[in-house]
Amino acid sequence: MNTPFQPGEYAHAHVNALHAYVPGQQPTGGDWVKLNTNENPFPPSPKVIEAIQGYLGKGGTRLRLYPNPTSGSLRAALASHHSLGVQQVLVGNGCDDILNLLMRVFAGVGKPAGMMMPSYSLYPVLAGIQGAELIEVNFTREMTLDAQAIAASGANLFFLTSPNAPTGVGFSTEAIAAIATALDGILVVDETYAPFASENAVDLLAAHPNLVIARSFSKAYGLAGLRVGYALASPEIIDLLDRVRDSYNLDGLAQAGALAALEDQAYYADVRRKVLAQRETMAAWYAEQGWFCYDSAANFHFVEPKNAAGETGPAVSQSLFDYLNEHRVLVRHFPGHRLTQGFLRVSIGTESEMQRTREVMAAWQTRGV
Ligand SMILES: Cc1ncc(COP(=O)(O)O)c(C=O)c1O
Repeated sequence: MNTPFQPGEYAHAHVNALHAYVPGQQPTGGDWVKLNTNENPFPPSPKVIEAIQGYLGKGGTRLRLYPNPTSGSLRAALASHHSLGVQQVLVGNGCDDILNLLMRVFAGVGKPAGMMMPSYSLYPVLAGIQGAELIEVNFTREMTLDAQAIAASGANLFFLTSPNAPTGVGFSTEAIAAIATALDGILVVDETYAPFASENAVDLLAAHPNLVIARSFSKAYGLAGLRVGYALASPEIIDLLDRVRDSYNLDGLAQAGALAALEDQAYYADVRRKVLAQRETMAAWYAEQGWFCYDSAANFHFVEPKNAAGETGPAVSQSLFDYLNEHRVLVRHFPGHRLTQGFLRVSIGTESEMQRTREVMAAWQTRGV
């Protein structure tokens, strides 16, 4: 009897064992309040659209040609924006591309990767793809950093997310400097949400040659659909990353759009101001309900809801998640970890979206247990 062809038999064992990353839901149909993937509720700068249309030109004829392979103009603009040398910047297809490149260069068999738990759940998947051991350093409920524990982890490459996801907690520059000093390895600070925070680690690059900052255009610049991210590091680290990236890792439309976004800081300062105002309103509302919520330095909150009986926990957060979902408000629940299962992650939306969210949350809370 012929056995059916099993491609898995020809694949690497570690790929057979791999669990793919599970992205947040992208519902179709227009009337959702979508607060589950920390996108920006405001559209990108009109200059981004103009730049993309300009790149396309008449009839899109430019699409015949390959884009600039080094994303030269965007790299130069990012270097100038951060007051760094152009050799200290690498751009990629989203921050995820940058994280993947870092993993490919610095992690693998015999070169373990490390991360804080809980944090961004893509890191374990990327480590798995490389066949790298993943070392987890656990947060406590206080969500503070222990530089010595990170240094002692033995990780060759350590991912620290600041502000962290899903908690929104930002870490001080001093705390990050202490880790960079203590760690015998590469420290990646994933600053996807840093534009919403009051501090970041970019100024530490000068004194810490083992530091890499990873950034994204998906959140603060409202360009999640365009897929642009970048790394800031020493020229030597950037050179290593450059060797393993795809030769055209950022398409022409994305290069043009991201450059226009970067050049319209006034527009984005206004967007940020509106997001931060809603962050404050929501934090005050959670406090009024007596719900614990971490201080957020990002564009989302991590909140521990209480039901009408004053109870918290995984069943309570699941109940609110389901109720919100029934009322077409989509948030994120992470039931798989002790420190996340009693919480919901709620992105910051527009004023009317947040008002609707509060109404549905209040209705859930008062409807009885
Ligand atoms: C901590 C963190 N890093 C990276 C990313 C991915 O960013 P990008 O859309 O630029 O790939 C996300 C997306 O949610 C994130 O939360």
